[in-house]
Amino acid sequence: MTQVPEPQPTDSSATPTRSADAVVVRGVDKTFDTRSGQVQALTAIGLTVSAGEFVSLIGPSGCGKSTLMRLIADLDQPTAGSVTVFGKTASRARLDQDYGIAFQQAGLLPWRTVAANVGLPLELHGATSRDRNARIEELLDMVGLSDFADRYPDQLSGGMQQRVAIARSLAEKPDLLLMDEPFGALDEMTRERMQTELLRICAETGAAVVFVTHSIPEAVYLSDRVVVMSPRPGRIQQIVPMALTRDPEHAEALREDRAFFDGVTAVREALHTGSPVPTGARGVENR
Ligand SMILES: Nc1ncnc2c1ncn2[C@@H]1O[C@H](COP(=O)(O)OP(=O)(O)O)[C@@H](O)[C@H]1O
Ligand SMILES: [Mg+2]
Repeated sequence: MTQVPEPQPTDSSATPTRSADAVVVRGVDKTFDTRSGQVQALTAIGLTVSAGEFVSLIGPSGCGKSTLMRLIADLDQPTAGSVTVFGKTASRARLDQDYGIAFQQAGLLPWRTVAANVGLPLELHGATSRDRNARIEELLDMVGLSDFADRYPDQLSGGMQQRVAIARSLAEKPDLLLMDEPFGALDEMTRERMQTELLRICAETGAAVVFVTHSIPEAVYLSDRVVVMSPRPGRIQQIVPMALTRDPEHAEALREDRAFFDGVTAVREALHTGSPVPTGARGVENR
């Protein structure tokens, strides 16, 4: 299945007012019907992501993070409640391609080269080939794949495919990015570089981000707020605001800042609320 939307006619009269919140989730439940009965994946989810805000979702495997992302991206529909994106229904926002998506599976088109995959959103929105090529070059440079522009996805490692998907999601400098464990397949060095780069891009473009991760430090480093979810059925357990001062000039120094470690502790404690904190072994990866 491809994550790439097909070209759609856009109704310019439906142009959104960008002053609206990026994402508003109200009273959302999601139940899946399976052969072995119903699975309640999400219950009573309420969340507002402001324009320009970076919000991470963190929680144990199976707590419904990806399900929530899929509802926001209109890849699935809630059983109850509503989702709006920049004041529009999720489905209108998807048709209007109001956001960039980078999910766990890279979702690249196998018959397109790396460059053509990255340039796809620009193509769909009618950018000239000159503008497109310049932007593709810039994006591939950013994700360190300049030498692979003419390769095909199956000639790349998983981590490289993921970087192509990230570059593609950023191609149009969208006002909203939906990212589901986008850095999970990357080595630690590349991962830190991509995190810093993502923050730089957000500062530059004012994009809002909804970001799923298993890594507490990653969530803390990137986010304005960290949404801690609990399992079965997935609900929001706590929303932890971060008090880090982000200065793009000194992005790396933040990783050694006191406020960063305080944030890690706060999220860890929120994750372990209701379940005793095991010493040594942790339920969630803490790198
Ligand atoms: N299409 C589906 N059909 C049935 N159950 C599903 C489906 N998608 C997700 N689930 C179930 O919903 C719960 C939440 O899954 P998911 O959102 O993928 O969790 P997470 O991303 O937090 O690991 C899990 O119990 C999962 O098995
Ligand atoms: Mg998931």
